[in-house]
Amino acid sequence: MASGQLSRAEALACAGCRHACHVMLYSDTKTQLFGKIPIKHIILMQMRFDGLLGFPGGLVNPAEETLEGGLGRELLEELGVAIPVSIEDHVDSCYAPESSRLITHFYVKKMEEEQIREVERAAASTATDHGQEVLGMVRVPLYVTKGGGGLSSFLSHSFIGNARSQLVDAVLRFNLVDPEELHKVLVCSLKTHAHT
Ligand code: APR
Ligand code: MG
Ligand code: MG
Repeated sequence: MASGQLSRAEALACAGCRHACHVMLYSDTKTQLFGKIPIKHIILMQMRFDGLLGFPGGLVNPAEETLEGGLGRELLEELGVAIPVSIEDHVDSCYAPESSRLITHFYVKKMEEEQIREVERAAASTATDHGQEVLGMVRVPLYVTKGGGGLSSFLSHSFIGNARSQLVDAVLRFNLVDPEELHKVLVCSLKTHAHT
């Protein structure tokens, strides 16, 4: 286990800690950008009310609900559809960078492309949080365009908490981008950050 990470049991045993659960929903796709760049996977993130990018989910109260039950409740509010997330989808738990009293639990769930499209439609229409806590769903560009745009530009945006590293780690862990390509992208975005 990497430093700063906790097992699910350790996390739940923390007295006085608050808990937040977020999920990366993704699917495979055969879609091609401009009819020639394979997209391969659709990953959903969201533009939050605070202008930062993050994953859907939110604060959960383990005294009243399970972590996964609370995450399901948050997903219904933010996405407008019931998405069952189970303990098998749990990837890791760690202290939030901004507070040692907040533990963030991260989940990854693979869906069918049509289910992802359904989430996008509901999030933009029937979801109670639409236009308020959630300003819109965004897909993560997992490719690199000729001019160097795509994933490196996306990673140069501002993210809530540890959402950026959750994204990078999950993309690697679930093999959604070629590791060498991702390495190049990360070096490139480091250089961009160094100049700003
Ligand atoms: N994505 C989103 N938030 C994350 C992430 C992530 N990957 N990782 C950590 N967090 C942290 C954020 O710092 C955030 O404050 O988890 C906290 C709770 O997550 P939210 O999704 O913001 O919580 P939610 O329950 O949906 O919103 C409730 O919390 O942020 C406040 O006042 C805000 O009204 C909002 C309330
Ligand atoms: Mg919420
Ligand atoms: Mg939220």
